[in-house]
Amino acid sequence: MEISINAAILCPLPFPKSNTARWKPFKAPSLRFRFLRKNGDANGLFRAHSKLEVEDHDNAEMPQENFKESDFESEVKHNHIWQLFKEAQQNILYLNNQRLLAVEELNRANQEKQLLLDRIEQLEAEKRAGVGKDKQSLCCELLLRIDSMVLTGMINTAEASNLRKAVMDYKISVADISLDNVQKSDAELLSELRHFSYGSKKSGFHIIHICTEMAPVVEVGSLASYVTGLSCALLRAGHLVEVILPKYACLNLSEIQGLREIEAESYSYFDGQLHGNKIWTGVVNGIGVTFIQPLYYSSFFNREKVYGYSDDFERFSYFSRASLDYITKSGKQPDVLHIHNWETAIVGPLFWDIFVKQGLGDTRILLTCHGFDSQCLEQPDKLALCGLDPSRLHRPDRLQDNAKTHLVNILKGGVVYSNKVAIVSSMNSKNRIIHSLNHGLEPTLSIHSDKLLVTPCGFDNSTWDPSKDKFLPQNYSEDDLKGKAVCRVALQQRLGLSENSSTVLVGCIFSELSDFEVDNLKAVVWNATRNSVQFIFMGSKMPSANRALESLQKALQGENMRFMNKYDEALSHLIIAGSDIILCQSFHDPLLQMPLKALKYGAAPIAVASNENRFRPVADHDQEATKFSQFISSTFGNMSLSEALNEIKYNPSKWKQSMVTSMAMDFSWDAECCDIHVSAYTVLKSL
Ligand SMILES: *[C@@H]1O[C@H](CO)[C@@H](O)[C@H](O)[C@H]1NC(C)=O
Ligand SMILES: *[C@@H]1O[C@H](CO)[C@@H](O)[C@H](O)[C@H]1NC(C)=O
Ligand SMILES: *[C@@H]1O[C@H](CO)[C@@H](O)[C@H](O)[C@H]1NC(C)=O
Ligand SMILES: *[C@@H]1O[C@H](CO)[C@@H](O)[C@H](O)[C@H]1NC(C)=O
Ligand SMILES: *[C@@H]1O[C@H](CO)[C@@H](O)[C@H](O)[C@H]1NC(C)=O
Ligand SMILES: *[C@@H]1O[C@H](CO)[C@@H](O)[C@H](O)[C@H]1NC(C)=O
Repeated sequence: MEISINAAILCPLPFPKSNTARWKPFKAPSLRFRFLRKNGDANGLFRAHSKLEVEDHDNAEMPQENFKESDFESEVKHNHIWQLFKEAQQNILYLNNQRLLAVEELNRANQEKQLLLDRIEQLEAEKRAGVGKDKQSLCCELLLRIDSMVLTGMINTAEASNLRKAVMDYKISVADISLDNVQKSDAELLSELRHFSYGSKKSGFHIIHICTEMAPVVEVGSLASYVTGLSCALLRAGHLVEVILPKYACLNLSEIQGLREIEAESYSYFDGQLHGNKIWTGVVNGIGVTFIQPLYYSSFFNREKVYGYSDDFERFSYFSRASLDYITKSGKQPDVLHIHNWETAIVGPLFWDIFVKQGLGDTRILLTCHGFDSQCLEQPDKLALCGLDPSRLHRPDRLQDNAKTHLVNILKGGVVYSNKVAIVSSMNSKNRIIHSLNHGLEPTLSIHSDKLLVTPCGFDNSTWDPSKDKFLPQNYSEDDLKGKAVCRVALQQRLGLSENSSTVLVGCIFSELSDFEVDNLKAVVWNATRNSVQFIFMGSKMPSANRALESLQKALQGENMRFMNKYDEALSHLIIAGSDIILCQSFHDPLLQMPLKALKYGAAPIAVASNENRFRPVADHDQEATKFSQFISSTFGNMSLSEALNEIKYNPSKWKQSMVTSMAMDFSWDAECCDIHVSAYTVLKSL
């Protein structure tokens, strides 16, 4: 019986006890499948077998192929022992066979086990290092669940803030709550959370963005990638970041994990009354997001577009007020409310006039201006809609517009009522932003210049990194540029350009171009065609880009010119990787971020307009210039295309050195952009 015992150890058979005689050794397809699930049960087979030996075989159901019922009965009668022997022989053969299979299975299982152990070790290491996206997502999800507990009245705000603290301070222990627990009811989760002891090992800031866009769920302009890029970088740096967005009908829901409605009524004040909102929570790129859906004003965000309606002020001031109502009701006490552009700038006055007294005394406000084109001028009376006092605010030192004095300027209100104002600009110095951009806020910015800071955009090096880029035929880095040459040839082949290694490849991908810029580009390109230069133009998704492209195509025919009418993500990676030079509309390109991508991929960003004085002032040695602008001005900033072509031709080793230096620079969100914000938050907390 040794064999059967061996085999039994390897392959415990999961037979129901009452049915032991139903064993069908010769066709048991399900047996293999269940192997080794429960290593402990070594008795199944042995028991089944010995039982079979002693059992009355009249009742045994044997496989039809091997034993016909009547034969079997007569065999039993006439030669019981012979039958048992035959049976045992069959079983030995079967078990031998199974043993081989089981050994195979065991080997496979051992391999799998090793893989699992390796993975566990890796996860443990990640956990020790305090990284790992799952942990972040879990942390965000737990915080959102705490919000929902407050709103459903399950816990009071004081306990909520203790729990939040526990989650934030003991991230690692909280990661020990398995993800399954997030599927549990609030009540179950609460009892687990209560097990955590409350310490105060406070690390990092708690930041809540109140904003109107976030990549990739709702993207219109550069705000979307800014909120996501910065938030992810801050999370990686150990801060806690949350985002509040309107629940637009046009949200891309497939980019939101765990979207759920909080089952609690939430009210906010608007136009003299309280109005109900539905609150939704979900996780976007590892960041906890709260979505506010107005019930009475349900049409506010139920539209095709995000912006561009005559009631935009009403829509976004409703949202701003509702966000603050939600924050105070759920008892959150963030260190910083981070607001963006005029759309949520009204949070500033609302905060200081109404909400600071509702438990937010330690919270500070940071406004980011992504541009001054849109400031929102309104009749002062409209401020009353969200509960503000027009007569108090319609004053020159507050919200009154500097030019149209009968109106209020909402962006100006944001500047006046924020503790810090970050202006996104890659190239302009603070001085230049305050004094010479013609945006009409000069007097306001001058008065508040102490709180202004300039920040560049970062870029997403998880998708834009030549050493990891899945769209390239070969990856490369500053340490090994061979792949760049491969990309160049691949690009030339793909576009049917002659593969001459002494030609210079110039790529140009643009979002939109004014007529002026189109003319400028034509002149620059035309001038360069005498040299052996190949040009590749591609427009972005914007319709206006296509018009510019058509106009260029008409003017610049030639065997060395290629025009791509349709934006193609994969090709855009190849163009940047294969090119020597990327012609940029501007070094400040928050939307496409062409200069940053070019630097990372070893292509020189050259501004189309650099022949004019437009970009020269960056070299004014302004102490406040960003690292990015200092770097770009000291390398490519004042080079025209023809100067760059000359440099490549007559000074190739210096050129290559600049490329390698550029590629090694870190201009991702994690670098300067994150640092600038963290130091701003640090200053805010000390105010
Ligand atoms: C929404 O996101 C999914 C997943 O990333 C994407 O495939 C889809 O194209 C997006 N939809 C829209 C309308 O952008
Ligand atoms: C992005 O750059 C930062 C800083 O160099 C680096 O720590 C991070 O790993 C990079 N991310 C990716 C995905 O390469
Ligand atoms: C480039 O790197 C990415 C990420 O590591 C990888 O998926 C891809 O296969 C690499 N490309 C090539 C051609 O090896
Ligand atoms: C045209 O090219 C020449 C040299 O090739 C250069 O000196 C000149 O500045 C260029 N003009 C423009 C408008 O780029
Ligand atoms: C490559 O381009 C250079 C410079 O324009 C030219 O002198 C050379 O003849 C070209 N070679 C081939 C094979 O076309
Ligand atoms: C750009 O101009 C500055 C001074 O205006 C000069 O020091 C620097 O060398 C120039 N850079 C290049 C690449 O020409």
